[in-house]
Amino acid sequence: MNLKIALLGGDGIGPEVLSQSIKCLHAVEETFNHHFTYTEGLIGAAAMDKFGTPLPKETIALCTEADAILFGAIGTLKYDENPSAKIRPEQGLLQLRTELKLFTNIRPVKVFPTLIDKSPLKKNIIFGTDFVIYRELTGGIYFGEKKLNPEGTVASDLCEYSEKEISRIAHLAFKAAKNRRKKLTLVDKANVMESSRLWRKVVTKIGESYPEVELDFLFVDNAAMQMMLDPSHFDVILTENMFGDILSDQGSAICGSKGLLPSASIGNEHAMFEPFHGSYPQAEGKNIANPVASILSTAMMLNHLGLDEEARAIVAAVKKALRKNIVTVDLNPDSKYGTEEVGDFIAKNIIDSDDDFNYNYENIGLGKSTII
Ligand code: IPM
Ligand code: MN
Repeated sequence: MNLKIALLGGDGIGPEVLSQSIKCLHAVEETFNHHFTYTEGLIGAAAMDKFGTPLPKETIALCTEADAILFGAIGTLKYDENPSAKIRPEQGLLQLRTELKLFTNIRPVKVFPTLIDKSPLKKNIIFGTDFVIYRELTGGIYFGEKKLNPEGTVASDLCEYSEKEISRIAHLAFKAAKNRRKKLTLVDKANVMESSRLWRKVVTKIGESYPEVELDFLFVDNAAMQMMLDPSHFDVILTENMFGDILSDQGSAICGSKGLLPSASIGNEHAMFEPFHGSYPQAEGKNIANPVASILSTAMMLNHLGLDEEARAIVAAVKKALRKNIVTVDLNPDSKYGTEEVGDFIAKNIIDSDDDFNYNYENIGLGKSTII
C-alpha cells in the first residue's frame, strides 16, 4: 500500500518521540511490503521561531494532502512562563484541529498487565481498567468568544455547543460502545451548565437508536472521583472538550506513566494521531522521554488506515519491550535504556505474525521445535 504521512514533530520531546515512530513505520514498510512517503511540517514554537506563526499555511497544506498525520507535542517553557504572550504555540494545534475539522478525540486508557505495579493506585482498584474517552475537540470553551476588559481585570470564555456538534461525536461514541462492552457514560455538569443540559438532551435522543448500549450520566466532579475509585467500571466516556482534556490526563496517570498512551483526532476527512502527553520541555534532547505513546499512536493510525495486522505487530512489539523491561526511566528509574534504544528495540521486533506462525508450524511439523 502507498500512503502519504505528514509528520509534525512540534516542540519539546515531540520530534524525538516521533523519530521512534518513524523507525517503526520503516520496519512496517519493510516487513509488510508497503511504501510510505513522509512530509515534514513545522507547528508550535518551532514554527513561530521560523515563520512568526504557530501554524504556517505550508503545514496546513501538507496535512490536507496527507492520508494521515502523526503529531509529536506542542508548547515550550518560554511561552508557558509568559501568560501575556499574544500568540502561543498551542494555538497552532487548536487551529489545526479546526482547519481539519478533527471534532473527535479518542483516548483509550488501558492498563498494561506488566505495568500494573507502576500505577499510583492500588492493584485491585485498577485491575481490568479498559475505557476510552471520546472528547469533543473543536467546540466548547476552547473555541468560544474570549473577552478581556480594557483594564485587564475581567475576563470570560464562552462555552457554546450546537446540537450538530454534539450529535456527530455522540454517534461515533455510541458506535464504539456497541463494539465494546456496550456502556456509554456522558460526563457533564448538567446541574449547573446550560450547554451540559443540551448535551444530555441530544445524547439521550440519539441513544434511542442504539438500544443495545446502556447510557448513563455522571457529573464531571463525580466522574473524576469514580475514575480514581473504580476505573474499571467505565467503558466509553463521552464528554465535551475541556472536561475531556482534564479527565484524559487523569486517566493516563492510572496507567503508571503519561508516556504510554496514544490518541486519535478524527474528522470526516482527516485524521491525526498523537500521544496523550505534552511537550515535556525539561526532557528535551536528553534521550529520556518515553516513545511508547507516540509509537502506539502510530499503531492507531495504521488501524485507522485499515492496516490492522501491521498495527497489531507494533502493539505486540511494544508489549514485548514492556515485558522485557526495555523501558525509559519513567517506568524504571534504574533503566539504562533511553528514547532511542526503546525505539530501536520496538522497531526491530515488528514482525509479521503470519510468518512467525508459519515458521513455527513448519518446524513443529518437521519435529524440530517444541515451542510455538
Ligand atoms: C491536549 C493538550 C492540548 C489541549 C493543549 C496543548 C492545547 O493539552 O491535547 O490534551 O488542551 O487540547
Ligand atoms: Mn491535555
